[in-house]
Amino acid sequence: MSGNVSMLRPKGGNPATSPELTDELRTAVDARAAAARELLASAVAEFGGDGEVAFANSFGAEDMVLTELILRLGLPIEIFSLDTGRLPAETYDLMARVEKHYDTRLKVYFPDAAAVETYVRNEGINAFYESVDLRKRCCQIRKVEPLRRALAGKKAWITGLRASQSTTRTGLPSSEYDKDNGLQKLNPLAEWSESEIWAFIRINEVPYNALHDQFYPSIGCAPCTRAIAVGENVRAGRWWWEDPTLKECGLHVKG
Ligand code: ADX
Ligand code: SF4
Repeated sequence: MSGNVSMLRPKGGNPATSPELTDELRTAVDARAAAARELLASAVAEFGGDGEVAFANSFGAEDMVLTELILRLGLPIEIFSLDTGRLPAETYDLMARVEKHYDTRLKVYFPDAAAVETYVRNEGINAFYESVDLRKRCCQIRKVEPLRRALAGKKAWITGLRASQSTTRTGLPSSEYDKDNGLQKLNPLAEWSESEIWAFIRINEVPYNALHDQFYPSIGCAPCTRAIAVGENVRAGRWWWEDPTLKECGLHVKG
């Protein structure tokens, strides 16, 4: 399966990652950031500041905004990441840069080794291309089960989801009860636009994944992520061979 598609690309680089920082955009970003800081602080006040609240960090652009907000505010929110074993090299590069930039050590969860070995032995190394069922089983082993472990004992978790990312995320609230995982789920960036995310990153000089400049707005595992063409939906490059209504990996199950 090849992720290469012929694409129309502007010569001067990716405009999405460098929006023009107009006064209007700066004002909008200030207001969005103030509201997000308030939501994060109130999560700690409501659920606790001793490991009860955790942020799931995939190191995508949205999650880098949250990383900056949480670490600069010094909020007692645990930050964890799920390393599926199939992430792009650029994501590991960013993880190393984040450790230096924020003088922090990352908390990374890995999939159960025996489960990955059995799946690969029975189904093949890249079996996720063969059917939605095999793709979902791979996501289950490499992402969903480690997420369950990461969220065990937590009272609330924070994500970088945005409502406008896809049809599967329309109407996303900034706070909701996550029945599947049995705890509150907070989405402080639910209402943010893509240009607000990038304006925040530029204004605050937040580190970000080099793939974003190469037309990868949404980054997951390397074999399941490709670049998009201008005008395509921001998640068009995730599991691009599947029906858009099925494109969730099980981390975020709706209601
Ligand atoms: S996914 O479900 O399709 O993979 P997406 O990449 O859009 O999700 O990310 C949405 C949110 O899910 C992120 O902002 C983050 O909170 C969480 N998330 C996704 N992948 C990971 C990961 N590998 N580690 C930690 N959190 C993740
Ligand atoms: Fe497996 Fe692809 Fe899901 Fe990653 S995104 S866990 S490689 S199916």
